[in-house]
Amino acid sequence: MPRMITLAIDTSCDETSASIVQDQIVLSNIQPSQMEYHKKYGGVVPNLARLAHQERIDNVILEACKKAFPGSKNQILENYFKNINFIAVTIGPGLAIALEIGIKKAKELAQKYDKPLILINHMEGHLLSGFATRNSHTIKPSEILAKPAFPALGILVSGGHTELIKVSAIGEYKIIGETGDDSLGECFDKCGRMLGLGYPAGPLITKLAKEHRENMELKVENRHKSTLVIGLNKKSKKTYELPIPMARTENLHMSYSGLKTAFNHLVHSLSKAEINETQNKFEQDNIISSGLTKEIIYDLCVMLEASAYEQLLIKTEKAILQFEAKELWLGGGVIASPRLRHLIRKLAKRFNIPTVRVPYSKKLTTDNAAMIGVAANINIQYNSATIIKEHFKQVDRIPSLTLNAT
Ligand code: KG4
Ligand code: ZN
Repeated sequence: MPRMITLAIDTSCDETSASIVQDQIVLSNIQPSQMEYHKKYGGVVPNLARLAHQERIDNVILEACKKAFPGSKNQILENYFKNINFIAVTIGPGLAIALEIGIKKAKELAQKYDKPLILINHMEGHLLSGFATRNSHTIKPSEILAKPAFPALGILVSGGHTELIKVSAIGEYKIIGETGDDSLGECFDKCGRMLGLGYPAGPLITKLAKEHRENMELKVENRHKSTLVIGLNKKSKKTYELPIPMARTENLHMSYSGLKTAFNHLVHSLSKAEINETQNKFEQDNIISSGLTKEIIYDLCVMLEASAYEQLLIKTEKAILQFEAKELWLGGGVIASPRLRHLIRKLAKRFNIPTVRVPYSKKLTTDNAAMIGVAANINIQYNSATIIKEHFKQVDRIPSLTLNAT
């Protein structure tokens, strides 16, 4: 098969991203952060995201081309398009008004330069992100060509989704478990806000929990109707409890809003107690915005992480058993957590699953266009891509693909 060189675009949420991917090799992946726009609102503001996409998209595409083809003399788009065979774009899920900017641009370029347009589901991008390989001479051809074994289990954990996906083949996906309310990342972000950790809170929760985990003794306990994580701070002797929602339900579905509510109660009861006990200036200085001491905030990060990951692991284990998964494919922003990757790898080892596919860099776990380019090229390779070409001029509405929900 001739080399596939694809320009990919993703504007599904708050990252304006463009990338050039050759087969599975990421030649460039430009993803300037919009965080400074949204941070003060504690979440993504759709209108601001759209405006930022509009402002940046042309430049981001040009930067992706420049980085991928550094030897080019005349650095104009027309020249770069001589090297590009396909254009891939995210068509959802995401913020409709943000997605539109990327889709419009991709259609415009596909028409102008007469290139086939490949439509990619954002979640399929996360699902296949572990197949991306870096642009390096040290990569062995066997790594690039490593064929997947089916069925595989996809574990997607981001700010918008928490999903378990049965992969029977490339293009044959079935959601077998998902959260019915908040996603795991959203739960981290909302609980982090209660602790005054800023937005997004996931990375800081991971960092604080890592620094402090060895000070805590953790156990999972079944009580009457609920399953709990019990934590003891070995120095202060403070104990904490948080529920693991859905731990004992038979199905593979998850829930993170109950954990958020329980966490809120815990924060309130602890901060009340702290404020009552705080007598002197030194202690007051040690209390930050949430009304909790730093020590307690550390404890709570360990607890939150433990409960959130335990629920996901319980359901992952059930899914592995249900259809004897041969590989695990991890994707999404929360996969940047080394702790979560470690726990999933440990689980894979226990079930003798030899392959756990993980994106090679943090940049591929958050929203990015490289994963869209990789997904497009893999789909072309397996003949399962949705390609729009011959009747391109008639396509004024791009069909929305969804992963088949059960
Ligand atoms: O995939 P993503 O970038 O955006 C969505 O498509 O949702 O995921 C963002 C989520 C946020 O909730 C963020 O707090 C979380 O991923 N996150 C992390 C880490 N990095 C990002 N959570 C835990 N540990 C991290 N290192
Ligand atoms: Zn995403």
